[in-house]
Amino acid sequence: MNLNKRKLGSQGLEVSSIGLGCMPMSQSYGPADERESIATLHGAIELGCNFFDTAENYGPFTNEELLGKAFKGRRDQVVIATKFGSIIENNKIVGFSSRPEHIRKAVEGCLRRLGTEYIDLLYQHRVDPNVPIEEVAGTVGDLVKEGKVKFFGLSEAGTANIRRAHAIHPVSALQSEYSLWERNLEPDVIPVLRELGIGLVTFSPLGRGFLTGDINRAEEYPESDTRHSDPRYQGKNFDANVKAARIVHDIAAIKHVKPGQIALAWLLQKGNDIVPIPGTKHLKHLEENVAAEAIMLDIPQMEALDNALSTGMVSGKRYPDWIMATIDR
Ligand SMILES: NC(=O)c1ccc[n+]([C@@H]2O[C@H](COP(=O)([O-])OP(=O)(O)OC[C@H]3O[C@@H](n4cnc5c(N)ncnc54)[C@H](OP(=O)(O)O)[C@@H]3O)[C@@H](O)[C@H]2O)c1
Repeated sequence: MNLNKRKLGSQGLEVSSIGLGCMPMSQSYGPADERESIATLHGAIELGCNFFDTAENYGPFTNEELLGKAFKGRRDQVVIATKFGSIIENNKIVGFSSRPEHIRKAVEGCLRRLGTEYIDLLYQHRVDPNVPIEEVAGTVGDLVKEGKVKFFGLSEAGTANIRRAHAIHPVSALQSEYSLWERNLEPDVIPVLRELGIGLVTFSPLGRGFLTGDINRAEEYPESDTRHSDPRYQGKNFDANVKAARIVHDIAAIKHVKPGQIALAWLLQKGNDIVPIPGTKHLKHLEENVAAEAIMLDIPQMEALDNALSTGMVSGKRYPDWIMATIDR
């Protein structure tokens, strides 16, 4: 099996049509086994999935270290995306900063942990309201000139900051949450990305696992698992969302595939400028996820999915309030 390639932006960045979200290998969704994670990272390369998503604050730090270990001797086979913007002290995230000197220091750490001389795609993880985006874009632009970074990305930035950043240094990709059941990008952000020729990397494309159907209620997860505090997994929201997501299971049954594969196929068909990065620490799940590329949904199926899970049909915010406050809208 070999995944097709997609272009992100117009600066030359090309990646597999489905990437691998590496965050669950270090946090958020229960314990991970290092050996299995490394087998999954190596298996991804075998499957033609060459686009790996990490961040300095996953772990913190340990996710980048894991990728550095796994990709030793294989650097030319992988496209690594990482993110800066957190202040991390004693292995705890204590704040955010995108000040130029902080970005430079963060990038040196990313390069060291990843065991590489360059980062393919460097994202600002969240817009920093205290630092004009022009300074951020200028700093990343300098890092590109120095050969430490190849392409510039933003994450969860709003349209005004996307435009301002792109005017200083071209943005190749925006990474934001977009999935069957999270459509907040459709009215404003996606049209601006298409106007400017910026690619969209969609995080949590499986609705943090909910759309796979392989789920429990929030209280059944330990507090350390993000699903414990995910509003969409809680109480009445959970029940309403199981009902709303029924259509995904129905279409999956008709096509003899898994519900999560329908969620990914829907995203891939929304535009060839979109690259989902489903997160998993299991090779079996990765194999299932990349196989979604071959699934074709017809127009009535696309429309049925569009309508059943559009904004207003899903119960609960996508994040608890304190994380929603970090989103630039
Ligand atoms: N920029 C940002 O602010 C931001 C925010 C969140 C995430 N991200 C990135 O985006 C990536 C994807 O998002 P996400 O991991 O939060 O959510 P996701 O991809 O929607 O869902 C991940 C969850 O789905 C499960 N899963 C994956 N494939 C499965 C399958 N085939 N069958 C059953 N369960 C499956 C995973 O468990 P298993 O491990 O057991 O497979 C995990 O619990 C992250 O890994 C991270 O790299 C970025």
